[in-house]
Formats: sequence, structure tokens, C-alpha cells
Amino acid sequence: MSVCEYKPGLEGIPAAQSSISYVDGQKGILEYRGIRIEELAAKSTFLETAYLLIWGELPSKEELAAFEEEVRLHRRIKYRIRDMMKCFPESGHPMDALQASAAALGLFYSLRDLHNPAYIRDSVVRLIATIPTMVAAFQLMRKGNDPVRPRDDLDYSANFLYMLDEKEPDPLAAKIFDICLILHVEHTMNASTFSARVTASTLTDPYAVVASAVGTLGGPLHGGANEEVIQMLEDIGSVANVRPYVEDLIQRKAKIMGFGHRVYKVKDPRATILQNLAEELFSKFGEDKYYEIAQEMERVVAEKLGHKGIYPNVDFYSGLVYRKMGIPTDLFTPIFAIARVAGWLAHWKEQLEENRIFRPTQVYNGQHEAPYIPIDQR
Ligand SMILES: CC(C)(COP(=O)(O)OP(=O)(O)OC[C@H]1O[C@@H](n2cnc3c(N)ncnc32)[C@H](O)[C@@H]1OP(=O)(O)O)[C@@H](O)C(=O)NCCC(=O)NCCS
Repeated sequence: MSVCEYKPGLEGIPAAQSSISYVDGQKGILEYRGIRIEELAAKSTFLETAYLLIWGELPSKEELAAFEEEVRLHRRIKYRIRDMMKCFPESGHPMDALQASAAALGLFYSLRDLHNPAYIRDSVVRLIATIPTMVAAFQLMRKGNDPVRPRDDLDYSANFLYMLDEKEPDPLAAKIFDICLILHVEHTMNASTFSARVTASTLTDPYAVVASAVGTLGGPLHGGANEEVIQMLEDIGSVANVRPYVEDLIQRKAKIMGFGHRVYKVKDPRATILQNLAEELFSKFGEDKYYEIAQEMERVVAEKLGHKGIYPNVDFYSGLVYRKMGIPTDLFTPIFAIARVAGWLAHWKEQLEENRIFRPTQVYNGQHEAPYIPIDQR
């Protein structure tokens, strides 16, 4: 085998053959199973899109109703998971709580039957159904409250918002939240999906697959960027401060959160949709002063870094949408995970269909034949 050139971050190296999603980073196109993201955001629901990604086709009316019903029936979490979560430190990050809880779920379903379609379906339903309940339960318990039971009369997104603060959400907010989940559900071979596929390739269980992907999603260069965007907008504080703030970051060669992407060299199509959703929310629930700051940032960054293809990514406007819904900043990334779990599971299923364990190579640049120096001579 020829020795390949080492590419930091595996840039441009295919890690799988996949028919789940497609990105054209020059034209700003994103498709799930061939359908444009704009169309799914306008016409689909999160659960329908999840079905499309995992089983490869849009469901019929009956198939969708059956899937929605199964998810509805599996929303409750076991009291032992809830009691375990109660013992987590309230100062801990909700992503860490989610990673631990997703892994713990696997303790209850240790029988692995990876070639059985019924096992795959059960695991998919259970993970998609319980992850939002776990996120909401930790949110309430860290404030000293008891978690609330899921409401069977509410759909997937409305029920999650309800479980966060025991109030039935505004229908527009619930609809917009559902669209946000569609926008975050899948995005080709990103870091957490790669992580999911590597873990899946060892033929471990899907709970370990999701737990490893949650851990990867949490970092500030991946899903964690949406939290940092809000922090940054708060630090900037006013439209007048935007230009000097951006210039200072550029001069220090620091990354501007919510901008830039390994694949997109134009504005991320999800950022455009999210910006429109943010405007819809502001027109119903009132302006957000940070939106003006964000728009000015987009202008200044385009002027300064547009030539390098640095434009807003999915994380730039999502935080403003969630903030307007009253969601705490450190739940933004767990919400990303609620959506992305369906994408990870689509990749888990695809990986199993033609599995080979991931075992890349490395370029060794250390010593050979090094002497062992006794400890008292070091
Ligand atoms: C997403 C990200 C990790 C992609 O990284 P990458 O593909 O490895 O890109 P690189 O770090 O190699 O950057 C390429 C060039 O663009 C610049 N760049 C990339 N993202 C930048 C950003 N957010 N702000 C300022 N400059 C940026 C780099 O400084 C580099 O410039 P140089 O060639 O002059 O050195 C990176 O854009 C980033 O850190 N963005 C901020 C975090 C974020 O929003 N993450 C969410 C992603 S959805």
C-alpha cells in the first residue's frame, strides 16, 4: 500500500460511503436523502425527517403515525435513570449529564442483536424518545425541582418545551423549535458523526455509540459553539463595539465563534433559515438587542474574512432563537444532541450494513531504539 500524505483533521479524506446527506460547500446546498434542507424545513416535521434519514425514504401516512406513536410511548425514563441523574452535581454541564445518562441507558438493554431489524427499530425509538426527557429532567432537577412527566397529547417538540418548564409552549415557538431540530439533525461526516461511526464499527451497542457522539459534540469547535456565540454577543454589548471587537480577534488570530466551516465557503444554508426563524420569533415576541449586534457582526466579518470563505454557520443564529424561547444557554448544545441523535442513528445503521472496523494509520515521528534510563539517572 502506498504511503498517503498526512492530512491534519483528515480534511478531504472520505471516511465512509454514505447516502444519508450531501453538502455542496461552494454553492451552499444541503440535502437529506436528496431532499433540499429548505424544503424539509418548510414542509416536514422532525420525526418525519428522522424517519427519512434512518430508513432512507419518506414514510407513508401510516408509517409516520406508527413511528410517532412508538416514540410517544417510549418518552418516559426509568426511575433508576432519574435517580442516578438526581445525584449529578447541579453545577455540571448538561452535556456531561446527557452523555452519562445515554451510556447508562445501555445498562438496561445490554442484549445486543445488531442484525435484527426489530432491535434496530427499538433502539432508534428509545433513544429518540428518551433523550429529550433526560435533558429536561436534568434541567429541572438541577434547579431542585422534580422532573415532569411527558404529556402524551403534545407532539415531540411541544412536549420537550413543556417538560423544560411545565408550561404548554406557544404554538409558533413549538413549530420553530421543531424546524430547528430538522436543521440540526444531520450533516455528513462531521466530528460527532465520525465518532459515532468509529464506535459503531466495533459492533458495540447503540447507547455507547450515542454516548461517544454526545461527548464529541460538546466541544466548542463543534456543537458547543452556539453557547459561545451568545457569550460573545453579550461581551460585545453594542453595535458600535462590533468592529473593534472583530478587528481585535482577527489581529490575535482568534477564531470568531459561529463563523467558518470546514466544508461551507459561503453562508451555511441553515444559518439563513435560522435567521428567518429568529426574525419570525422577534416579530411575535419582541426584538432582541443582540440580533442587531449579530447582523453587524455578519457584515463586518464578511468584509474582513469573506475572501477566506468565512461566513455564519448553523451556530450563529440558533442561540438567538433559543434565547428568545427562554431556554438557558447551556442547554443549546444538548438541544443540538436531541436533534443529531437521529442522524447518528442513521449512520449507525448504515455502518452496520457494510461494517469494517475503523483502524486508520499514523505517521510515526518519534524516536527508535531509545535507551531506558534508570529513574535515579533522569
Ligand atoms: C468550524 C471550524 C472548526 C473549521 O475549522 P477548519 O476547517 O480546520 O478551518 P481552519 O481552522 O483551518 O481555518 C482556515 C482559515 O480560516 C480562518 N478561520 C476559520 N474559521 C475562522 C473563524 N471562526 N474566525 C476567524 N478565522 C477563521 C483560519 O484562521 C484560517 O486562516 P489562515 O488560513 O489564514 O490560517 C472553524 O471555522 C472554527 O473554529 N469556527 C469557530 C467555531 C464554530 O463556529 N464551530 C461551529 C462549526 S458548525
